[in-house]
Amino acid sequence: MIDWDAHYAGRASRMAASEIRELLKLLDQPDIISFAGGIPDPNLFPLSAIEASYHHILSDKARAAAALQYSISEGYLPLREWLAGYMGEMGVACGPDNIIITNGSQQALDFLGKLFIGPNEPVMVARPTYLGALQAFNAYEPAYVHFPPPGADWQGPAPKLGYIMPDFQNPTGVSMTLEERHQALEMARRVGMPLIEDAAYEKLRYDGAALPSLLALDAEREGGIDNSRVIYCGTFSKTVVPALRLGWMVAPRAVIKKLVLIKQASDLHCSTLNQMVMHEVASKTLMANIGHIRATYQARRDATLAAMAEHFPASVSWTRPEGGMFIWATLPEGLNAAEVLRRAITEFRVAFVPGAAFFSDGTGRNTFRLSFSLNDKPQATEGIRRLGQLLREVAN
Ligand SMILES: Cc1ncc(COP(=O)(O)O)c(C=O)c1O
Repeated sequence: MIDWDAHYAGRASRMAASEIRELLKLLDQPDIISFAGGIPDPNLFPLSAIEASYHHILSDKARAAAALQYSISEGYLPLREWLAGYMGEMGVACGPDNIIITNGSQQALDFLGKLFIGPNEPVMVARPTYLGALQAFNAYEPAYVHFPPPGADWQGPAPKLGYIMPDFQNPTGVSMTLEERHQALEMARRVGMPLIEDAAYEKLRYDGAALPSLLALDAEREGGIDNSRVIYCGTFSKTVVPALRLGWMVAPRAVIKKLVLIKQASDLHCSTLNQMVMHEVASKTLMANIGHIRATYQARRDATLAAMAEHFPASVSWTRPEGGMFIWATLPEGLNAAEVLRRAITEFRVAFVPGAAFFSDGTGRNTFRLSFSLNDKPQATEGIRRLGQLLREVAN
């Protein structure tokens, strides 16, 4: 039999499935209350608008022909025009030439890795950071370095790229203050580093006023988006639906041109039909539905936090996010959240994601992530009660 490992490229050695994935496969069992997957609630999907839009496009012969045909790698122009208006409302003056449509923002992260990262080149990430970004970048074999604390300087060589989530970070739920946003941009300017701004949860704010994106701040200071050092990644996955697999990047035109070449080589373009549907559905429903989506997740966050305050032992600390889908908990030093998860699933029928996978340096074993997006109040309360019972046993 062929020794496949001997034939894979060196970068494949960094593509490993985690044992936690195996454990999380058990989550299909109906009596388990899961705080694991960070996915949107399907009850919030604009199902009838999507159904009507597919029908509407496919029943018109000329539109159907365009929808089912090959198209340009930049993405469907009316969708990019709509996005330019959407970004404009958030303080980013840009045109469709500043935008490329991607298969979800996950593809954007892969393309940015491909464009910027060579083997052993430094890439600056937070500790912890989005696991999917680490997975996307790992294929390009970066040497990870970490953002210094807000206001502090970076002493090492200039990283090729910095990756940052200003709003309701996955996994911690924590957001950057306006001052921290300015500080991060200042640091990136001093170091000469481009920044990827991952705005996946940006619209899911439940408390406080929205803050400007890094792209908005930087473009304003630099005299326009084409002078900015920020590449913004947006997605429809959390505000409309994930399954059409549509996200976008907003960046200086020079960078978009390179990304279009990568898109061409990778998969030519996103599904034209899905882009046309998303254009219709997002322009009709996104802003109309966002209030209900926010209210639903806000109630779940509040129920989860209230139950944690009641049931978790004092030795455990956690974040209180203003939005997004995640709460981040820290156990006393020395405890291993992966071991706690094993007992949580098998004995207490409750699940979460151990935090170590979100650290590029293998630390964080005493941390875990709770997603509150799927559990209504009774489920959240019962799930946290069960987890609290286990935590009082292991972490008192
Ligand atoms: C921070 C962050 N970025 C990007 C993504 C990728 O999402 P999508 O490819 O569906 O846009 C996710 C998905 O959960 C995420 O949490």
